[in-house]
Amino acid sequence: MDWGLQNRLSRIIQPEDGHTVMLAVDHGYFLGPISKLERPREVIEPLLPYTDAVMPTRGVVRNCIDPNANVPVVLRVSGGNSVIGEDLSREGITTGIEEAIRINASAMALSIYVGAKHEHQTLLNFAHLVDEGQRYGIPCLAVTAVGKELAKRDARYLGLACRIAAELGAHFVKTYYCEEFEKVVDGCPVPLVIAGGPKLETVYDAFRIAADAIAQGAIGVDMGRNIWQSEHPVAAIRAVRAIVHEGATADQAGKLFDDIKTGKA
Ligand code: 5RP
Repeated sequence: MDWGLQNRLSRIIQPEDGHTVMLAVDHGYFLGPISKLERPREVIEPLLPYTDAVMPTRGVVRNCIDPNANVPVVLRVSGGNSVIGEDLSREGITTGIEEAIRINASAMALSIYVGAKHEHQTLLNFAHLVDEGQRYGIPCLAVTAVGKELAKRDARYLGLACRIAAELGAHFVKTYYCEEFEKVVDGCPVPLVIAGGPKLETVYDAFRIAADAIAQGAIGVDMGRNIWQSEHPVAAIRAVRAIVHEGATADQAGKLFDDIKTGKA
């Protein structure tokens, strides 16, 4: 791997343990001011000390993140859709490689919509991004987006989408946790991080999927809603961090969350 590309990747995936806690804050690109992320700066700043990398759009980078905050940016570069638009899968590249370089992005993220109406376009978008990333030494994260069809989140579908992403040259892939997740990991020759998805019933459920995903071979998380839609976002991310970097179980993470919440830790 090219030195610069490897160097950028190692800012995100911690060389000490090969794991990462990424904070997803890109939702506004198609969801607008989603609940609890209305004012991104206020959400992001307290979480930065516990975050290995943030995943925002360029608009949020430029307006809501202090350039002196030494946090690696995984820049969301796809969009052009909206939750009320014709079809969520109709995404293009919204941020060019020069802008990614100007922002000093440590990686670029783009959604692929396997099996959706605009599958072909999004896969070619990703292949193009990888060519650009290779040229300038910037790693590319493929996000296996499911649009509104949450039913697609099974090992067969996600295994297919993750493998296609890897075949197109993804340096790492963001996907969903599912039953038989080890099959998804097994068929994907590049590192996987999991999204949290829509807010789960309790934060303890998010700890459970994070711990299960790590146990089954994910290298980390790229979580958004289950962190910052929690009543206690700092406690939530610290608990997830304990799972990802310290091997805590879901129960241990739950206890840590309770202790932080009540001021005991
Ligand atoms: C959509 C996305 C989201 O914008 C986001 O990054 C997902 O994070 P989470 O599900 O943990 O809120 O990737 O496909």
